[in-house]
Amino acid sequence: MVMDQSVVSGIKSTLRGELYTSPEIFELEKKNIFQKSWLFVGYEYQVAEAGQYITTKVEGENILITRGKDNVLRAFLNVCRHRGATLCSEPSGKAGILVCPYHSWSYGLDGSLAGVPKSSECREHLVNNDTYGLEKVHLQTWHGMIWLNFSEDPQPLAEQINNQILERFGELDTIARYQIEDLRVAHTKEYVVKANWKIIVENFQECYHCSAIHPELTAALPEFRSGVGTQNSVGLGATFNDEIEAFSISGKGTRPMLKGLLPEDDRIYYGMTIVPHVFINLTPDHVITHRIVPIDQDTSIVICDWLFDPEEIAKPDFDPMDAVEMFHRVNEQDFAACQWCHENMGSKAYKNGGILVPIENHVSKFYNYVLESIDMKGV
Ligand code: FES
Ligand SMILES: [Fe+2]
Repeated sequence: MVMDQSVVSGIKSTLRGELYTSPEIFELEKKNIFQKSWLFVGYEYQVAEAGQYITTKVEGENILITRGKDNVLRAFLNVCRHRGATLCSEPSGKAGILVCPYHSWSYGLDGSLAGVPKSSECREHLVNNDTYGLEKVHLQTWHGMIWLNFSEDPQPLAEQINNQILERFGELDTIARYQIEDLRVAHTKEYVVKANWKIIVENFQECYHCSAIHPELTAALPEFRSGVGTQNSVGLGATFNDEIEAFSISGKGTRPMLKGLLPEDDRIYYGMTIVPHVFINLTPDHVITHRIVPIDQDTSIVICDWLFDPEEIAKPDFDPMDAVEMFHRVNEQDFAACQWCHENMGSKAYKNGGILVPIENHVSKFYNYVLESIDMKGV
């Protein structure tokens, strides 16, 4: 059975159905892709002050991210070293010391074990021993976004991201101009999608479907009707329809361009994928991020954030919903389509995969990335 991006009579195939339905393949992807890659989990501004913390769940692990008294950002497994209770259950908070709710062991914001009540015989040994501090997780930031990596000795985050940025934009400056580090999330939506994470990525990477399922998007960005668009051309973005003022469902917009943008960024939409699990969408007055959290081979959660300039958010008449509704509809249309496909990945009809037409051939790069990662290229 050929699982590579084989060319049979000039036609490329998609991945075969089993790649989307097999629990074993999903485990391999977790081990070789998600456990080894930098994963986007939140924003630095959410943990800006010493003592602030946020919690999240990544790769089945409860995670705690703290800003220490020394102002250093750190990530830990949010698991007490005594009997394994979740140390911090709130999504966010501020504390000088973190106390486990079960038997009151306490930890510093740097993860060190600080106190072990009623254990005079072994307290000194436990507290003065790094071994019993919270388990560390690698953390790095990029444009104000926090990324974690579960591997023992990960490559630098910039190595994972910069090559992808260069392939999309030909330079690092374009995305830097949007100054994501200075923006704030004004709205978040979470979608539970009954589809394998790869279907969501490949859907985002092609616009062959845009004219069929995205009436609002193609009205705003007419070139998307062609199914090609500029999203796969290095450095190019899609130009707004002349009739609209902003990337919003009504087409109306009153916000100024984000600080740092150049005149040529006006009336342009850029989309890009950062494999394995992030999409970034740049518009003149807001940025939208998507992160896929794979739950199992059949289920993914997609968290979508809409970010704006905090000066705009602070205005009494600020209302993000016109902008939010635009990509929310796109998301619902996309995720419905992903589900149409996922439910048939186990069908005999898809045993050997489907067909990639030339207009979407670029998706085969993602297929090859997955196959190489799980060591199944050419199998
Ligand atoms: S489980 Fe945390 S103190 Fe016992
Ligand atoms: Fe789409």
